[in-house]
Amino acid sequence: MRVDIVTIFPEFFDSPLGCSILGRAQQAGIVQVEHHDLRDYTDDAHRTVDDSPYGGGAGMVMKPEPFFRACADILGGEEAPVVLLTPQGEPFSQQKAAQLAAQERLVLLCGHYEGVDERVREALVTDEISIGDYVLSGGELAALVVIDAVVRLLPGAVGNDQSPVQESFGDGLLEHPHYTRPAEFEGRAVPGVLVEGNHERIRRWRRKESLRRTLQRRPELVGRVELSSEDHELLKEIWQEMSAGM
Ligand code: ADE
Repeated sequence: MRVDIVTIFPEFFDSPLGCSILGRAQQAGIVQVEHHDLRDYTDDAHRTVDDSPYGGGAGMVMKPEPFFRACADILGGEEAPVVLLTPQGEPFSQQKAAQLAAQERLVLLCGHYEGVDERVREALVTDEISIGDYVLSGGELAALVVIDAVVRLLPGAVGNDQSPVQESFGDGLLEHPHYTRPAEFEGRAVPGVLVEGNHERIRRWRRKESLRRTLQRRPELVGRVELSSEDHELLKEIWQEMSAGM
């Protein structure tokens, strides 16, 4: 996969893209991430990327021309999703990450100031993504969040290809609790079922705790997943335990 980022802060990306799974995925040739300075696509001596809004008001608006030139140069006529990072966008989700991970190319546009000229949205952008209901000072951090979530889904990016499926949201639920050695720590014991080693009992316990955790923390998610008959049984047990104050 190839990801191109258009930004007024290209240096922002050097360190995070070099670390961890993102760094390794690039070294392994699984993904190529390039960043482009929006100011390289301006045509005035001051390399101006913003201007005051038509109609007046506070703040500045990002000019359309540099974005259009950047996308034409980067894509060279190829088709690819062009994603604008903006608090007005569709809320980012694991499902959206999986959809983007299926693409061969992605272009990410980082907005700033009061926003970008509407014609960028109309004519260039195919997807608008928000990483949450809060306002960041620019789209750069949001672009990194999207890249991280997408790249770790690419085959070979995470050591064990099973883990992106098993983790939280992979199946629409939060993950079950995890434990490692020691079996007892400061008076807290690891649940017996995990120590005993019966794989079927462990699988059932994990599913139940995954359901319990989701029900307690994000009940709205439980309604969105397809529940098996075992899940219904487990939920019944959880309700009984909860009403018994366990
Ligand atoms: N730019 C500023 N705030 C943002 C957000 N919450 N998500 C995506 N891009 C942004």
